[in-house]
Amino acid sequence: MRYLVTGGCGFIGSHLVDALLGAGHGVVVFDDLSSGHRANLDPRAQLVVGDVANSADVAAIAKGVDGIFHLAAIASVQRCLDEWQRASAVNLGGTINALDAARRGAGIGVPVVFASSAAIYGDAGATAVDEGRSPAPISFYGADKLGGEQHARIAASLVGVPSTALRFFNIYGPRQDPRSPYSGVISIFSDRLRSGQSLTIFGDGEQVRDFVFVGDVVRHLVAAMTRMTRLKSSRFDVFNVCTGRPTALNALLATMARVIGVEARAVHEAARPGDIRVSMGDPAQARRELAVAAEMPLQDGMATLVAPEPRRTARAG
Ligand code: NAD
Ligand code: UD1
Repeated sequence: MRYLVTGGCGFIGSHLVDALLGAGHGVVVFDDLSSGHRANLDPRAQLVVGDVANSADVAAIAKGVDGIFHLAAIASVQRCLDEWQRASAVNLGGTINALDAARRGAGIGVPVVFASSAAIYGDAGATAVDEGRSPAPISFYGADKLGGEQHARIAASLVGVPSTALRFFNIYGPRQDPRSPYSGVISIFSDRLRSGQSLTIFGDGEQVRDFVFVGDVVRHLVAAMTRMTRLKSSRFDVFNVCTGRPTALNALLATMARVIGVEARAVHEAARPGDIRVSMGDPAQARRELAVAAEMPLQDGMATLVAPEPRRTARAG
């Protein structure tokens, strides 16, 4: 099989590319390198540098592929607030472009697996949300991810494009870039703790997240594509990608400091606008229908951050 991976130079996308290549598939990556890096990419993958907001370029790169993994996005809730128009063009517009590129005349389109987000649920309260929960995003980022899902649902019935939206909760692991203030909290905290810098907690630190190791996410992505290829029907499905285990930020920081063997120095700032208080998912539907579960214990996953991976050099196409 030959797959297109948008956002394949990023944190999650580059781990997916490794798994696809390891299984013997061909991979073409489409990425604008805005937050991803060439060095993340296995040189056996073909890299085409471009913008998912450009529909003609996405259609051209998708020609002849057997499936599309669409991960390219502006992944930060805060950056989507700071750069509202551009973020929406990339996050909603890019998803529509990927779905449109998967259309195949009158026949069933090429299967698309795309990265949605727990952000579509908004503040769902202190319970684990399942996929039946009514979406209520509280950020532009969440609104665009939900918009992508709605276009995908309609594309399945109107233009025959099969797709699966995976609602990722908070993903962490090697290659999550700590240098950007817009990066995920675990990579920022890990980097600062190890270099002896103080860190910032937005709000009181009692906000709760469901942290998922990146290797577990890759298994969900592959399982979703395999299922669609097997079912060969124009359908749309959604699955949470989560552990069902809640972790408060203060507890996370205490565990990280212990794993790394340092004392944490933190300053508090006001909570970020659009920040969810409790985000925790129910993984039952993915376990039942995709036969996968997020298994990595948080402490073991964190330990992988302490030993950095060797860097790679990719070839441009
Ligand atoms: P990332 O920033 O590391 O990866 C995103 C990749 O997309 C980068 O390589 C970036 O260069 C590329 N990209 C951005 N804008 C682009 C554009 N206009 N055209 C082409 N490429 C572009 O982020 P990530 O954490 O790997 O996120 C991957 C996907 O998963 C995103 O869709 C994100 O919204 C989603 N997601 C991530 C998390 C998380 O916790 N990391 C949680 C939920 C959903
Ligand atoms: C994250 C993802 C988003 C995804 C969502 C799904 C990133 C950058 N964002 O958003 O793509 O859709 O999960 O649940 O991966 N915080 C601090 N100090 C810091 C950094 C963050 O206190 O230095 C706090 C934030 O305010 C937030 C929590 O940590 O309360 C998590 O923040 P972050 O890692 O940015 O993730 P989300 O906003 O949950």
